Amino acid sequence: MNDDRKLRVGIIGVGNIGSAHARSIYEGKISGMCLCALCDTDAAVRQSLSEKYPNVTVFESSDALIESGTVEAVIIATPHYYHPPIAIKAFGHGLHVLTEKPAGVDLDSAKAMCEAAKKSGKTFGVMFNQRANKLFSEARRIVSSGELGELKRVVWIITNWYRKQCYYDSGTWRATWAGEGGGVLLNQAPHNLDLWQWICGMPTSVRAECSVAKYHHIEVEDEACIFAKYKNGATAVFITSTGDYPGTNRLEITGTMGKLVLEGGKLIHHKLAMDEREYRLSADNVKNPVQIFETLDEPYQGHAAILENFASAVLYGTPLLAPGEDALCELEISNAAYLSAWKNERISLPFDCDEFAAKLEKRKAASSFKSADKEHKLSDEYNARWNTNW
Ligand SMILES: NC(=O)c1ccc[n+]([C@@H]2O[C@H](COP(=O)([O-])OP(=O)(O)OC[C@H]3O[C@@H](n4cnc5c(N)ncnc54)[C@H](O)[C@@H]3O)[C@@H](O)[C@H]2O)c1
Repeated sequence: MNDDRKLRVGIIGVGNIGSAHARSIYEGKISGMCLCALCDTDAAVRQSLSEKYPNVTVFESSDALIESGTVEAVIIATPHYYHPPIAIKAFGHGLHVLTEKPAGVDLDSAKAMCEAAKKSGKTFGVMFNQRANKLFSEARRIVSSGELGELKRVVWIITNWYRKQCYYDSGTWRATWAGEGGGVLLNQAPHNLDLWQWICGMPTSVRAECSVAKYHHIEVEDEACIFAKYKNGATAVFITSTGDYPGTNRLEITGTMGKLVLEGGKLIHHKLAMDEREYRLSADNVKNPVQIFETLDEPYQGHAAILENFASAVLYGTPLLAPGEDALCELEISNAAYLSAWKNERISLPFDCDEFAAKLEKRKAASSFKSADKEHKLSDEYNARWNTNW
């Protein structure tokens, strides 16, 4: 930032993550932002916000905040179903929007949100905080520069999203079809699904197995395995779970010119001096040198980086690290994975959004969650479990 301009923001939904954003902005830790409004539908939360942030106006509905004229931008940190309707309303009132992930529950409503963003001409970002991790941006640079050759395979075992039953019990909306709309694929793994497609591009089809309530007393899946295919024949395997302890976080990307392994806070780049396809078929005994380069993860604060980048995008036109429309990609993968598991078949992208909506609707109708249920709160500190865990 090159001057003292501050973007006036309001936060809608001040639970776990909304409180953490509120606190860091209020305490002046986010350059380019100041906290001017807060909103939560829970009266007890509003009471506590008024005590904690006496100079900040607290609203009881997102409509009231958006229509108040107190802010230039909103951060949406409600349960996922509300992200698109609140964002659409905010864009309609000329506000910039930074939404929490996932973009929504179903691709269609997330697309409508992107359309509203485009129409408004306002800045639209999504909180993919793990994009701020240098290891992932370096992997992306290597793959997109062609250094890794042609993509052969992606394997991501991301099973260290461990959650205990008390986490699921901490909010009545959690892990229900009607309140949340999905499980580990929709709540925890969006970060990894986004990074996967951000680094390697979108697959063309997915086949998935989603294990419902395998480890917890919940309505949705707490484990999922996706087997995806790419246009060029490359394959991808993505395994995620909230029931493994200790879990694993290992991403391996193989190309014809080498391999990237991200594990334990390190990026290891195995480099081939010759394309493997050429080497494989060469008649003479050509030596196949492999060089290994290591990059170490550096301590990073992903949420703050995205907040500052968003403010800078609005104030100075800085490119967004996580533009809102990018969030459609990971949601397309997770929606297709659900559809695949529900139909027990491989799903090609783009998939049939109406069929997805009808099948989700059935699950919502049988859900234990009723919208009048009360929410519960956890902490207001950025939690280590929201960052990249190796
Ligand atoms: N980026 C990250 O690292 C990260 C971490 C945690 C959560 N999240 C995302 O943030 C969102 C919220 O998750 P959480 O864990 O903070 O949930 P939470 O239940 O702790 O907080 C949600 C808050 O929103 C309020 N609320 C519900 N409906 C509302 C509405 N219509 N208008 C205004 N307020 C409303 C609730 O009363 C509650 O206080 C989810 O979409 C989740 O995926 C992202």
